[in-house]
Amino acid sequence: MNILVTGGAGYIGSHTCVALLEAGHTVIVADNLCNSRVEVVDKIKQLTKKEVIFYQIDVTDIAAVSTIFSNHSIDGVIHFAGLKAVGESVEKPLAYYYNNLVSTMILAEACQNYGVRRFVLSSSATVYGDNTVPFVETMNLLPTTNPYGETKAMSERILNDIAKANPAFSVSLLRYFNPVGAHESGLIGEVPNGIPNNLMPYVTQVAKRKLEKLRIFGNEYPTVDGTGVRDYIHVMDLAEGHVAALDNLTEGVHIYNLGSGNGTSVIELVKAFEEANGIEIPYEIVERRPGDIASCYADASKADRELGWSAKRDVISMCRDSWRFENNKE
Ligand code: NAD
Ligand code: UD1
Repeated sequence: MNILVTGGAGYIGSHTCVALLEAGHTVIVADNLCNSRVEVVDKIKQLTKKEVIFYQIDVTDIAAVSTIFSNHSIDGVIHFAGLKAVGESVEKPLAYYYNNLVSTMILAEACQNYGVRRFVLSSSATVYGDNTVPFVETMNLLPTTNPYGETKAMSERILNDIAKANPAFSVSLLRYFNPVGAHESGLIGEVPNGIPNNLMPYVTQVAKRKLEKLRIFGNEYPTVDGTGVRDYIHVMDLAEGHVAALDNLTEGVHIYNLGSGNGTSVIELVKAFEEANGIEIPYEIVERRPGDIASCYADASKADRELGWSAKRDVISMCRDSWRFENNKE
């Protein structure tokens, strides 16, 4: 199939391009490079030895999006392009609502205009809010604590309504848990902007001695050791989940958790990183981070049942591959 991958130069998008190309699909990337670099597209080609068609465009630009749809016979869209920094979304809500919602609407409209029936959305486990773990797709969603999370919940609702009105439209809403790791080659991975907010990129920078020590946000949560529990998923497993979602997409709206189904605490992740890479990670316990929840992990059985997909790579591989990329990146 010819797949339009918006945000394909970004972290999850680039790994998904590799998985798509390896599965025999043709990939057209649309990215404005606001949080990525064009060199990533060359790395995807280098890794797969396949061509990638690249458009440097903003997917909120209706004319630019239409040009892509008229230039190519597109079979499906995977929509990764978006802004994703939770803290920044509180400071710049309009930029987040505009970018993340207008892009979804413009792409959905282009799909209608050009008869494209497959649409896969990057959603997030954040839409569950502070629910009871494990999170199951059938749960009622709770409010998120920030505009970023709201853009994901709203994008899901928009696509739901469009699919209701257009029964031939097939939509997959993929709720990611915590993507970490990098391609096993060390050629592509996550490049955070400035000081990282998320745990794994922070840990790799402490390991690199770019940052002095990890600050663990609270150790009195009701969890195994008092630190926050999350469901870390290797980005290549996540990428392969997209291929499975696309290959199995049928009419209507389908929601899938893409997680490992396992909860790992902050201290367990630190220990796994130390074991995987033989490097000590100094840390101190500090105040809780506002907006954090104690535990978040998936019931990942629906994706296994319906898509034949489950996460294969363990936390040790995630730590090893994150560290390899940290050492390889320019
Ligand atoms: P990323 O920032 O690495 O990738 C997003 C890409 O989209 C970037 O290359 C950026 O340049 C591009 N982009 C942003 N706005 C654009 C626009 N208007 N037009 C064209 N390109 C645009 O982020 P990521 O981690 O790869 O996340 C991909 C998607 O998955 C996002 O929608 C994000 O919200 C969602 N998600 C990410 C996580 C995570 O932890 N990384 C978790 C859940 C959901
Ligand atoms: C964060 C976002 C969430 C987003 C997700 C994936 C917030 C409040 N939430 O979630 O909306 O969907 O990323 O991108 O930003 N931790 C530390 N020290 C650190 C960093 C993190 O102790 O320096 C802890 C956190 O308290 C948490 C765990 O590590 O318990 C994971 O944190 P993080 O990687 O930021 O992911 P989430 O909190 O799950």
